[in-house]
Amino acid sequence: MERVLSGIKPTGKLTLGNYIGALKNFKNYQDNYETFIFIADLHALTMPIDPEELRQNSIDIVAFYLAAGLDPEKTTIFLQSDVPAHSELNTIIQNYHYMGELSRMTQFKDKSRKMNNSAIGLGIFAYPVLMSADILLYNSDYVPVGEDQTQHVELTRDFVHRFNERYKTNVFKMPKAITPKVGARIMSLSDPTKKMSKSDPKGDIFLKDDLKVIRKKIMSAVTDLDTNIYYDPENKPGISNLLTIYAALSEISIEEAEATFKDLHRYGDFKKAVADKVIEVLEPFQQRYNEIIKSNVINGILNDGAKKASLVANKTLLEVKKIVGLYVHE
Ligand code: AMP
Ligand code: TRP
Repeated sequence: MERVLSGIKPTGKLTLGNYIGALKNFKNYQDNYETFIFIADLHALTMPIDPEELRQNSIDIVAFYLAAGLDPEKTTIFLQSDVPAHSELNTIIQNYHYMGELSRMTQFKDKSRKMNNSAIGLGIFAYPVLMSADILLYNSDYVPVGEDQTQHVELTRDFVHRFNERYKTNVFKMPKAITPKVGARIMSLSDPTKKMSKSDPKGDIFLKDDLKVIRKKIMSAVTDLDTNIYYDPENKPGISNLLTIYAALSEISIEEAEATFKDLHRYGDFKKAVADKVIEVLEPFQQRYNEIIKSNVINGILNDGAKKASLVANKTLLEVKKIVGLYVHE
């Protein structure tokens, strides 16, 4: 059976961008693929974070996974740091990733630009190496992510070529990124030319926001001075972003969303329809999240997940050790 793997890093409050670009799609795989979905807590350490916040965020993400329909009987849900093979494979394969290619990664350039040069941790530079390890330990065929992560999956693909060629092996399977047709890049509501991101709270919709606050944020989303509702990300980024949100959450195409609103010439009415849709989806989602947090199921799920994931990951790690010459005795 083909394998699917993805993860989210517990670095802040999850946004509607995370939901549309990643979270809501994960459940679609669990019936037809062997699915591994994890919490990338080691990746969260690549930027400064308070320990208690990191712990809470990790628990939150498990609850979000379950609220979004992941079934722990079908999907292996686990914490990255619970499976030491991630760190071990990372140590091995860092030697086949090049400084040049890593320094060209957009995420690294963005994050390091915002920091004092002497205080940029090695981890943020080496971020994609650990991500390669995550993907390759499970022989993943498909990696569902938002658009901003596809560059890292491409880097993994380059590495797979290089390694398999060097050792004349096929130990690493060639993974493929899958981005959603609609909503691979949700933009900020306050500046629709920028990505909606956890570290930029202005213009974000957080999944745990009060529903009234969500409505208010959408009603005050930055748009343009026209009155026509159609998709044109270059000239109408705000309206296009709202159409994308509406389409993604309604599971329809952008064209179908455009058709729904083609006779409406009041942005206020359009925004209200978008807010209604977001609330229609997030209200039950928040209810499920709250029930899960109260229910005490998370520990058990993470324990089981760590065991199941380790079995698969350790097998790959052992093969790799043998291939590079690290396996000397029984
Ligand atoms: P992160 O928050 O960086 O761990 O991202 C988790 C997942 O959400 C990744 O697959 C990202 O590509 C996706 N994602 C993050 N922000 C957005 C956004 N604004 N639009 C679409 N997908 C996003
Ligand atoms: N880097 C991803 C993000 O920021 C999270 C992540 C870590 C991931 N390892 C992964 C996603 C492996 C997919 C596969 O969103």
